[in-house]
Amino acid sequence: MENKKIAITSDHAGYFLKEKIKKYLAGEKYETKDLGCYTEDNVDYPDYAHPLAEAITRGEFDLGISICGTGNGINMTANKHQGIRGALCWNEEISRLARAHNDANLCALPGRFISESEALLIVKTFLNTEFEGGRHKPRIDKIPIKKY
Ligand code: RB5
Repeated sequence: MENKKIAITSDHAGYFLKEKIKKYLAGEKYETKDLGCYTEDNVDYPDYAHPLAEAITRGEFDLGISICGTGNGINMTANKHQGIRGALCWNEEISRLARAHNDANLCALPGRFISESEALLIVKTFLNTEFEGGRHKPRIDKIPIKKY
């Protein structure tokens, strides 16, 4: 996918890595928008995860990247949105499989548990791996909650 539109967010615990990832993305073919936070002052991750999830759901972005301390808070929040398939990506292979098998549209990173180089590798892999489809398609189609 060329010229992917990427939205990136973090809370204060992910701010440092967000800035590093933004720098990498700026040198690549991606159109990136930073939806905050914008300083290392304490914030609440849902205030950044919900707007990110809504923007992806509206189709404004192809993929999202989000970082908090563990990656869990931001991922849990975003996954409340029916159209979001958020994956906690803590190493390269998990990141590859999240795209290839789960068609993940949100890469959640544990900012306090990975290095800058690990984060960049995870992000690169996430953005450069396509969904395999096939047997995985009916499975991801069953993820949203249906009204019975
Ligand atoms: C913030 O201190 C921390 O709780 C948050 O970044 C995240 O790890 C929550 O899941």
